[in-house]
Amino acid sequence: MTRALISHDPLPGDAPLPAIDMSAELAGLRLPSPVLTASGCAAAGRELDQFVDITELGAIVTKSVKLNPQSGRPTPRMAETPSGMLNSIGLQGPGIDRFIEHDLAWLVDRGARTIVSIAGGSVDEYGKLAARLRLTRGISAIEVNISCPNVESRGQVFACAPDSAAAVIQAVRRHSDPRMPILAKLSPDVTDIVEIAGAVVRAGATGVSVINTLLGMVIDIDTMRPHLAGVTGGLSGPAIRPVAVRCVWQIRQAFPDLPILGMGGIRSGRDALEFVLAGANAVSVGTAIFHDPSAPARIHTELHRALVERGFSSLSQAVSYAHRGPDVVEVDDGLDFIAE
Ligand SMILES: Cc1cc2nc3c(=O)[nH]c(=O)nc-3n(C[C@H](O)[C@H](O)[C@H](O)COP(=O)(O)O)c2cc1C
Repeated sequence: MTRALISHDPLPGDAPLPAIDMSAELAGLRLPSPVLTASGCAAAGRELDQFVDITELGAIVTKSVKLNPQSGRPTPRMAETPSGMLNSIGLQGPGIDRFIEHDLAWLVDRGARTIVSIAGGSVDEYGKLAARLRLTRGISAIEVNISCPNVESRGQVFACAPDSAAAVIQAVRRHSDPRMPILAKLSPDVTDIVEIAGAVVRAGATGVSVINTLLGMVIDIDTMRPHLAGVTGGLSGPAIRPVAVRCVWQIRQAFPDLPILGMGGIRSGRDALEFVLAGANAVSVGTAIFHDPSAPARIHTELHRALVERGFSSLSQAVSYAHRGPDVVEVDDGLDFIAE
């Protein structure tokens, strides 16, 4: 099997693609590509590496890992939805020790940049995970999945309240190397995502990852029961892209310098460009990988082309470009008017 490489060659019939600076600056990291994987959609990169040279990607964001091994939710745990999918996998995984020995060791050996996603049921569990990672080498950043039920607070999801979101980030920050970039992964299922972003930044997050899945549900009209054994699940894929772009836009408007990793339904370079223009410094690709494992490399090349076509000479020039002021058009009478 041949791996898809990030291509600088023209597609048949296309003009050659001039080289531009496609590197991304995210939370103090200099990444050779702005395209990363999304947590839970490429496991720990091993299977994906058969299709894409994972060392060429911005980074692999690993499946959220908990302190102890987890078997995940009962089946069925996937459902197709219009322009998307619903999953209730739960945080199935080997637990942090096995993850470090088996998955992280492989990623480090392979030479891939790795962002480790962690998840917990209590603030204390997040702190313990961070302390465990502090002793571990080869990690570029920690992504903190706060879309988990707080077992100490009637199962309320940490990401849905500023106080609980901040408490988790504070614990992770306290137990981490002070130089370790920490990305707080936010949920769109809130009234005001800017308020949550502010809370996690004040608590010590270096940046934010936006967005996690939206809570959804499908009823099977034959059995006349919920389709998923877990009843509700996370909606992902193109259906959520406008919500994700809106979240990135709102956070960028409130925090002009905050590192933002954008995601939600990215299937093509044009989709990725939308996120970049809205304010994302880099993007993650999730659901698209399930039907096209070479998607992250293809999306890098398509984004490169889309930037060149619009006259950008680097990715960083395009970040937040949609926030610029109105275009001012010169007219003959010497007065400027604002284009409609
Ligand atoms: C099957 C599946 C598993 C996921 N597992 C995780 C996870 O473990 N941790 C996490 O933070 N997000 C998880 N996500 C959410 C994705 O990382 C991403 O935020 C979301 O799916 C939106 O991006 P997409 O539309 O490109 O998939 C998962 C998504 C899917 C589809």
